Amino acid sequence: MKRPFARRAATWLAVIVVIVLLVMAATAVSRWWHARGPVQKVAATSEQLQRGRYLVLAGDCAACHTVEGGAPFAGGVPLASPFGTLHGTNITPDPEHGIGRYTADDFFNALTTGKARDGHPLYPAMPYVSYRHMARADSDAMYAWLMQQPAVNRPNPRNDVRFPANIRTFLHGWKLLFARRDIHPASQGQSAQWHRGRYLVDTLGHCGECHTPRGVLGQLKFDRTLHGNTDFGRFAVPDITPAGLAGRGWDATMLQQYLATGVSPRAVASDEMLKVVNLSTSRLAAADVAAIAAYLLGDRPPAPKPFAVAAATDDAPARRTYFDLCAGCHGRDGEGVPNVTPNLRGNSSPREADPHNLIVAILDGLPVHELPGIARMQDMPGFADELDDAQIAALATWLRQRYGGQDSAVQASAVRDLRDADHH
Ligand code: HEC
Ligand code: HEC
Ligand code: HEC
Repeated sequence: MKRPFARRAATWLAVIVVIVLLVMAATAVSRWWHARGPVQKVAATSEQLQRGRYLVLAGDCAACHTVEGGAPFAGGVPLASPFGTLHGTNITPDPEHGIGRYTADDFFNALTTGKARDGHPLYPAMPYVSYRHMARADSDAMYAWLMQQPAVNRPNPRNDVRFPANIRTFLHGWKLLFARRDIHPASQGQSAQWHRGRYLVDTLGHCGECHTPRGVLGQLKFDRTLHGNTDFGRFAVPDITPAGLAGRGWDATMLQQYLATGVSPRAVASDEMLKVVNLSTSRLAAADVAAIAAYLLGDRPPAPKPFAVAAATDDAPARRTYFDLCAGCHGRDGEGVPNVTPNLRGNSSPREADPHNLIVAILDGLPVHELPGIARMQDMPGFADELDDAQIAALATWLRQRYGGQDSAVQASAVRDLRDADHH
């Protein structure tokens, strides 16, 4: 009885091993074949090159493909994800490590379907889910421009992705489920400006990759476009739907100021958004920045909620903390100093329903910014060592009431959680 079973099992095992080996061999042959493809030479008109350069800015490719201070588009930018660390790859025309053997078709496929030239599926850290509706002419213009840039012979660093996400084959399944879904627009509109804005925000600017909440498998929640993402990084990513923006008092003019210069009466761009402004939105044509604002607010923008002081007790110790530690820079009544420190009165961070970013600013401070809209700005110091959880909670509650019109109290436990998250 035993023998035939063992023999049958051994036969099946052998069959499985042979199949696995065949698949591996086929993959290796395909990779070898593709690695040898001809090096592409691309002819382009000067209009196409100019357009390509501009679109690469609008698509913010440098954010993930250029290391700060490194060779442009030579890759190696580490990108943290819940599954481990990935790297933006070399997209210079280098034939060995870059896209030198990519044809315009291969390039369009990589951008819009997440398929690399040799057929392997790309991780969605490359925002092909957003780029899906990229116009072919736009992809071709970017390709033409990138292929004229200096080739850099820089190998791509190994990714550090945990099992089972490190098995690329699974990405085929992920893509089948999530890569062909349409992004619902975040606002209503019909105008040509709204459509242009939608393309700039949802496709090229891939704003939803950070501003849209995600599901357990890291997929975008396609029907919650731009509703904000609290599970992102040190900062929470704000809700930038028409209702979210109007609730914090944004109008189209302020949005344009913010995107073009990083500074506005509602907020100064920090953290990941600072990079977006510096590398991308501040370099766009004024008409495109206006189109972005028009899409974010929709053809019939809701009236910005007027700022009002919430009716609440005036907590004397918290007021004293403000005068002792903050008023010197932010003004006696939170009015700020133009071009030096932002106003807190009416600022978006005390107006957020979620106090997350206000607490993080008080705990960590904010590093000095280099923004096109600022003459001189200093560092904001952090107060994590100076103030305990209860003091920060009381200060945040007071700031929200007085400068944000939010009357709910901030709990000390919320401060503790963010303090702990800092030291993991
Ligand atoms: C948010 C980060 C991010 C942005 C923005 C981004 N990429 Fe990528 N890109 C990646 C990552 C990460 C990979 C590698 C993915 C992998 O290893 O599976 C990649 C891979 C690629 C590839 C495939 C190259 C290869 O490895 O064979 C191309 C082509 C590419 N990107 C072009 C672009 C272009 C053009 C833009 C701008 C329009 C852009 N990317 C914007 C993160 C990004
Ligand atoms: C890489 C992630 C990332 C991308 C991409 C991104 N954002 Fe942001 N955005 C953030 C973060 C984080 C904040 C909060 C920053 C802060 O508090 O200073 C933010 C803040 C903002 C704010 C300010 C909201 C407020 O009330 O304070 C606006 C407006 C905004 N983003 C618009 C955009 C638009 C438009 C795009 C696309 C062109 C975009 N963002 C792309 C991460 C991102
Ligand atoms: C030495 C001057 C200085 C002091 C003291 C200071 N700040 Fe700031 N604060 C700044 C500057 C400058 C910025 C803008 C920094 C940036 O975004 O790069 C800022 C930004 C902020 C922001 C974010 C505003 C926005 O538009 O995004 C908040 C909230 C804030 N400060 C709260 C406080 C509180 C509360 C205190 C006291 C506990 C305080 N600050 C003390 C200089 C200061």
